[in-house]
Amino acid sequence: MTDQDQQVIKSIAIVTIAIALLGVIAFFIAQNVSETSSMKQQKSARAEKAMQERIEPVGKVSVGAAVDAGAPKAARSGQEVVAASCGGCHVAGVAGAPKIGSKGDWETRMEAGMDAMLAAVVNGKGIMPPRGGGDFSDEELSAAIEDMLANSGM
Ligand code: HEC
Repeated sequence: MTDQDQQVIKSIAIVTIAIALLGVIAFFIAQNVSETSSMKQQKSARAEKAMQERIEPVGKVSVGAAVDAGAPKAARSGQEVVAASCGGCHVAGVAGAPKIGSKGDWETRMEAGMDAMLAAVVNGKGIMPPRGGGDFSDEELSAAIEDMLANSGM
């Protein structure tokens, strides 16, 4: 092998190594670029999801609040209504109010029937103000009457 031959082989080796290195570099650059773009996609997907999550609860809450506002309040029990209002007169039998615990007082009222008693409370009777002086529903007033009857041995 001449010196020239060795020189040629050397050059070829250097060029080969250079090309190989370029290939490796190109490979890494390519991978890096594709990684970045896929990361970008993930990022935008995450951002969109986060935005939806921020929007969703607000929508849900406002819809829920609207439904809640329209929904009727939970009915108070007969016992609660009596304690809040009716008992003020019906415990002691104020001004001829049928007394809680006095079966005789209620028996005569019962003869007219439950509907008539409810109507008397809804419209007011004697010194009893309409609806017993509260914002009670018919349902709550009926429950209150039932409660007073039950506590009067009826
Ligand atoms: C301010 C006092 C007062 C309050 C408060 C009151 N009542 Fe009366 N209530 C009376 C009086 C007095 C009568 C008897 C009226 C009469 O016969 O002239 C009466 C009568 C009734 C009767 C018999 C009605 C009938 O058919 O003759 C019922 C039932 C009754 N009350 C239920 C209630 C209920 C239920 C409440 C509470 C939501 C209530 N009352 C609150 C004073 C009151």
